[in-house]
Amino acid sequence: MQIESVKAAYRRYAGIYDAVFGPMLQPGRKALLKALGCKPGERVLEVGVGTGLALPMYPRDVQVTGIDVSSEMLERARARVARRGLKNVEALLEMDAENMAFPEATFDKVVAMYVVSVVERPAKLIEELHRVCKPDGEIFLVNHIHSRNPVIGALEKGLARFSDALGWHPDFELAQIPSEIGQVTEVSRVAFFWKVMRLKNGVMHRRAQAADPIVART
Ligand SMILES: C[S@@+](CC[C@H](N)C(=O)[O-])C[C@H]1O[C@@H](n2cnc3c(N)ncnc32)[C@H](O)[C@@H]1O
Repeated sequence: MQIESVKAAYRRYAGIYDAVFGPMLQPGRKALLKALGCKPGERVLEVGVGTGLALPMYPRDVQVTGIDVSSEMLERARARVARRGLKNVEALLEMDAENMAFPEATFDKVVAMYVVSVVERPAKLIEELHRVCKPDGEIFLVNHIHSRNPVIGALEKGLARFSDALGWHPDFELAQIPSEIGQVTEVSRVAFFWKVMRLKNGVMHRRAQAADPIVART
């Protein structure tokens, strides 16, 4: 999906998103937050934060930054932060997760909930998540992955032609991400449909070090 289609889809969804996708996608959000294991003082980035449904679930002693390309979704996230008095939310910014303005190694934890199957270039997204995550930080995804069940898989393939209207790719496969950056170290299944994934970090940092002869020697 091209970014303009994403923006148009989530402009349409913004007003009904919480009612339609709030409870339905909550098990995955909860499972990811549990897996995150935040420590006091850590900085967390949530990309594709949407209406901020997960924001009240972060511990109060971590600092959370959320980004999204949809101003309408962000507007609702900002209203939620004000309503709930979430002082641990540092910033909510309109930004493309495939091309972020943050310097490298900024965050301890980087999170993408139901986003990797929405963006135009999933591999570029994952590369960016690595870049902005500290070398000893961690990256977490929760998403639906294309089903291996022949009936459900065929249904997803059929639905995939309506991706622009739906606002996501029902047939998203992890194989769309090069194994070097998409190395998943842990997977847990949530309610049959979704998987929480922990990605091995440090790839981009090791690559930068290898390209820099001074750093490589030290
Ligand atoms: C399915 S919603 C998930 C929202 C939220 N994470 C949740 O759990 O409900 C996908 C979100 O990703 C955002 N998104 C899609 N492409 C993006 C991109 N390239 N950069 C930042 N956000 C993006 C959409 O605007 C939308 O808010």
